Amino acid sequence: MKQLRVAILGQGRSGFGIHYNQLRKDVERYKVVAVADLIPERCREAAEESGAKVYSDYKDLITECHRDIDLLVNALPSNLHVPVTIEAFKYGMNVVCEKPLARRVSDFDDMVKAGVDVGKTLLPFQNSRFQPAFQKILDVLSSGVLGELVHARISFSGFARRWDWQCLRKLDGGNLLNTGPHPVDQAVVLFGKKKSNVFARLVSKNPYGDAENFATVTLWAPESPTVEVVVSSFMAYPQGEMYNLSCTTGGLSGSLTELKWRYFIPDLAPEHSRSEGWSDNRQYCNEKLTWVEESWKIGDDQPVFDIICARFYDDAYGILVEGKERLITLEQVRSQIEVMEEAHRQNPDLI
Ligand SMILES: NC(=O)c1ccc[n+]([C@@H]2O[C@H](COP(=O)([O-])OP(=O)(O)OC[C@H]3O[C@@H](n4cnc5c(N)ncnc54)[C@H](O)[C@@H]3O)[C@@H](O)[C@H]2O)c1
Repeated sequence: MKQLRVAILGQGRSGFGIHYNQLRKDVERYKVVAVADLIPERCREAAEESGAKVYSDYKDLITECHRDIDLLVNALPSNLHVPVTIEAFKYGMNVVCEKPLARRVSDFDDMVKAGVDVGKTLLPFQNSRFQPAFQKILDVLSSGVLGELVHARISFSGFARRWDWQCLRKLDGGNLLNTGPHPVDQAVVLFGKKKSNVFARLVSKNPYGDAENFATVTLWAPESPTVEVVVSSFMAYPQGEMYNLSCTTGGLSGSLTELKWRYFIPDLAPEHSRSEGWSDNRQYCNEKLTWVEESWKIGDDQPVFDIICARFYDDAYGILVEGKERLITLEQVRSQIEVMEEAHRQNPDLI
């Protein structure tokens, strides 16, 4: 089995906590050979365990190690995703880039082109796409039992105060660019291939930062579902479940670990004919539908986050080594960035 040689830029929550932590469990397919972080202490654990070379300046890692690396993971702060990914491509490496890939479509196009120019692959780390619950939602929708999707609401919200760099606009922080790429990615998939209109409200009420800590984005178009995303840091009482789908013959509701859905079977439902007359006996339309109820629960053998990271790197290996198709297409990521760029355009105080 081919073992890919990997370098990770950034050894923070993502670079160490997500990427190194996953790759250390998949040693047959991946070997971490170099890590970089401004804070050398943050490289110690990975270096001691894997023997990876340590760099404080990511540029030194790229210039010195590029010939020895099959895959570079860009887990640097968000404002460094575009320039460093393009630089890595110029040195001929495949790149896994953390979200947000970019804040502007033109930057994303430049990243993609830089990879295409040297025949290397860009793998956007849209890990939430691999969420078992989201994949289950897609399965239920495509089975057709719920009929046509009319409205979906995805809420990645809670009550959370923040005071780190993710509150700063100059580093591409804020709820939209930080948490937003997860639900907006899912919203784009639910919405489908058609171009969406966007309505967005961003609000900043954070004494410790200048980026928004409330974001709502709605995708809509005639003849398409309306898909609404909420990323609020002010939701003290969760308003319903994380996912709520309304469809023509039923609906679905649930979280990352549990889903339930119910639907009626049109052929078995009472038949009516359209009536343009006034109410019968001043009564409302009333019927008894027989609901079919179903549910899904994640197995409790592994935390959800571990599952989605393992699936991402499974997929990455398949793409890089076995020539498999991408689950996350670059067109979908481009649409997600287009939505977020439009959301910023509608809220110019928070660009
Ligand atoms: N996909 C996910 O689920 C997920 C989760 C967390 C973070 N992220 C993303 O990962 C990225 C990093 O976020 P984080 O939470 O790990 O931040 P963090 O603050 O925990 O870590 C950032 C690290 O980058 C290092 N760094 C900063 N500038 C550097 C430079 N010029 N050269 C070398 N090292 C440098 C810092 O020293 C720090 O250790 C962000 O873009 C964030 O959006 C994604």
